[in-house]
Amino acid sequence: MDRKQVVKKFEHHFAGQPRVFCAPGRVNLIGEHTDYNDGYVFPMAIGFYTTIAVFPTRDRKLYIRSENMDELIAIDLDANEKKRHHWSDYVAGMAHVLEKEGFRLPGASMLIESEVPVGSGLSSSAALEMSSALALLSTVGGELNSEKLALLGQKAENQFVGMNCGIMDQFISMHGRENHALFLDCRTLDYELVPLKSDALRIVICNTMVKHELGASEYNKRRAECEKGVLILSADYAGIKALRDVSFAQFQKVQHKLPPVVRKRCRHVISENERTLQSIAALNADDSATFGRLMNASHDSLRDDYQVSCAELDLLVKLARACDGCLGARMTGGGFGGCTVNLLVADKVEAFVEEVSKAYERETALHPDIYISVPARGAHEVK
Ligand code: GLA
Repeated sequence: MDRKQVVKKFEHHFAGQPRVFCAPGRVNLIGEHTDYNDGYVFPMAIGFYTTIAVFPTRDRKLYIRSENMDELIAIDLDANEKKRHHWSDYVAGMAHVLEKEGFRLPGASMLIESEVPVGSGLSSSAALEMSSALALLSTVGGELNSEKLALLGQKAENQFVGMNCGIMDQFISMHGRENHALFLDCRTLDYELVPLKSDALRIVICNTMVKHELGASEYNKRRAECEKGVLILSADYAGIKALRDVSFAQFQKVQHKLPPVVRKRCRHVISENERTLQSIAALNADDSATFGRLMNASHDSLRDDYQVSCAELDLLVKLARACDGCLGARMTGGGFGGCTVNLLVADKVEAFVEEVSKAYERETALHPDIYISVPARGAHEVK
């Protein structure tokens, strides 16, 4: 996003010479619904940013204008405000956790403009949290490292917004790097930036343009089912703390002891962790065909065992897989709508976009937005 334009818009609504911060959305290549099971994920930041121009005030109020919503919201930092079921909750939540960390915020005028499509499963909320975190911190001259900021973003979402998300989205929004995807161990937060170097391949994101309401409640339900699985499995495997600690072979030995639904959930998470590790190995060996097959297997497992897909996602995946040059296709993010991620041979992309959009439109009467994505830089100040 152009800094000059954002500043100009800010100056139209507020006084002061603002600083400008931005944070990106993300797409997850593989490792879905593994983060809150202490497992592995492999996302990359995408070139869609949420940008915030910010200037401190001295009245302990946040004046937040969203350009996308054409709306101005005021939040009183002394009023112990609760969530409003509104986009501003992510900013208010961030302010809330920063204050709890001991930063006394002076108040601020903020102008927000976002390129991350909302409700698309590309983490518009993490992008808003992380850009808010940098913007709010700047008003107190505070500094925190990126890992701590990601954790605070997750905390804001868990405790203030009430969505029990894992760490993936905030972490990649902070740590994204151009031309790299990020392999993250969600238990230790050790990570490795893996170059996505091949000129012959493209990451293509297809948006179903639907978001089913189920999302948040089903998400929290899945988490609870995984925890139940851990509890039952720990009778045989003493000391396990999360599904991350169980290998697929160990799971197979005792799976009959799990109730059918819990068994399916565990099978997804445990196999997805193994797939994620295999996909890194495949990438390091320049074996994109195997990487694509693992993406396909990931989708099938999310659809059949974890049951977080939906008709529109399954359709987009089916249409993609039928296209020439598509090495792998899967849903990405929490599910129940949003986007698919596809690994494509570069010179087949044009035909792919055409075929998939036409066929999807024919079957659903919806026109899917399609983005060809390169890994982007994480949250930063725009100078
Ligand atoms: C959402 C959550 C993440 C992660 C994914 C599923 O995006 O915010 O923490 O759990 O779903 O992989």
